[in-house]
Amino acid sequence: MSHSPVSLKATTDIDKTRHSHQPTAKTTSNLHLVPGYRHIPLVGWRWQGLRMLNDPIGFFMKTYQTYGQISSWDNTNPKYIAIFGPEFHQTLFTQSKQFIADAFRESHFPSGSSMERLSLGLLRINGEKHRQHRRLMQPAFKKNSIDQYLNSITSITQSTLDTWSLNELRRIDQDITHLITRISLKTMFGLDQNQLSKKLEHYIALLLKTAGSPATLLFPVDLPGSTYRKMLQSASYIEAIIRNIIQQKRNASTQGYDILSALIAARDEQGIGFSEDELIGEAYTVLCHESSASAILWTLFLLDQHPEEYAQLFTELQTTLNSKSPTIEDLSKLNYLDWVIKESLRLFPPAAFGIRYANEDTELNGYLINKDTTIFFSAYVSHRIPEIFDQPLRFNPQRWASLKPTPFEYIAFGAGEHNCMGRHFALLEVKLILVLLLQRFRPSLIDGSQIDRIMRISLTAKQGLTVQLKPPGSFLKSPEVKGNILESFEKNA
Ligand code: HEM
Repeated sequence: MSHSPVSLKATTDIDKTRHSHQPTAKTTSNLHLVPGYRHIPLVGWRWQGLRMLNDPIGFFMKTYQTYGQISSWDNTNPKYIAIFGPEFHQTLFTQSKQFIADAFRESHFPSGSSMERLSLGLLRINGEKHRQHRRLMQPAFKKNSIDQYLNSITSITQSTLDTWSLNELRRIDQDITHLITRISLKTMFGLDQNQLSKKLEHYIALLLKTAGSPATLLFPVDLPGSTYRKMLQSASYIEAIIRNIIQQKRNASTQGYDILSALIAARDEQGIGFSEDELIGEAYTVLCHESSASAILWTLFLLDQHPEEYAQLFTELQTTLNSKSPTIEDLSKLNYLDWVIKESLRLFPPAAFGIRYANEDTELNGYLINKDTTIFFSAYVSHRIPEIFDQPLRFNPQRWASLKPTPFEYIAFGAGEHNCMGRHFALLEVKLILVLLLQRFRPSLIDGSQIDRIMRISLTAKQGLTVQLKPPGSFLKSPEVKGNILESFEKNA
């Protein structure tokens, strides 16, 4: 592994770099120390760490407004830094030897535990091993392969919607999560709704809840009753179930029609496939679709807050589909739907922030970075840079008629080697569910609802979304809402 020379003079100069959109030019003898929050004696970076855990979105937004494109939590010890904007994204995502993905590093899962094996998928591996796994998985995730799941997604969604009634109140966030999980168990593992799938769904929900809880991060101790222990136990039940499913698939006489079956059968040019443990990690990585649930939730919210945009989308659905279920060809004609989803993922990216780690002492656009520095990036913040997205807080799907951001300006699905493998699948399920749902209902919040955005595994609504199912196409005025969500967007005048 190469080791960059960093016997370089460091300078601190917050004012020079503050709000600058061009990082200070690098000279071989002069790299800059990352500017940032003033050092707090004894406490150091931990104070900002607590602020971040309390409200990551609010914290990163404030950080960007105060320090611009790069900053640290402690200006004397840049162990944790945040970067924003396309110039920094480009370096971070393309220099994959220096900046590695290592999801859950901070969680310190016990070595040899089920939790460690479940988490050992693409987002925790790098270099040649990562490329090899992607090569093995790619065929199953190509658009043509994914399009074949249209019928399964449609029928599961229709059967769910059949149980909903006009004018009733529903916790639509919970409904969508349940629906997405059913779709995922069917398409990823080939499981229909039965005892086993219900058990797996139960443990996945428990694992996501406990793993995303601050109690797990702040108190990672395996003691009776602790959230951490609940997480570890759910993981071992999930691992046992997945191993069983893999065994059954290996014993079956024909290959199943689902992603896991494709991964079991995948072989590289030398005829080598995944080991059993690698399969467990990759199978679990592709099983959890909470990002898709988040995308649907925020799209429904934004449409409810913007009656004109809702009306335009509804007209497109009526004109193109005339109430029938869409085919793949139909979906490709729904341009306004495509813009609505792009715009919703811009304002409320489910993966609102992410992490890379410096794998060696190195430099990032002229700044000195020490080995093991944690580097946060945030789609939520970077998608609000006004130089790139005019009137960034406005929900304006129409902007996508002419806007063509570079891969480093719009990063809802990530960029570089770790970009989203499930993008085609995600877009297919999000589009289909939205179309089928909006053909039958117009979900609308109760006036005065409290909506606080919160980062769990994905960006979601703290109190959930309780909506009334109005008739499709009804013209409604946008309901008034309260909460920190009002910082995240501006209603159109
Ligand atoms: C709207 C829904 C989704 C969004 C917004 C989304 C977004 C992302 C983002 C931002 C990354 C990169 C993370 C990073 O760089 O650290 C990512 C990675 C990934 N996503 Fe998605 N995702 C979605 C749905 C899905 C679905 C449904 C699947 C599986 C079918 C999936 C599978 C993956 C995998 C396997 C990776 C890891 C790729 C790698 O590390 O090489 N995603 N996703």
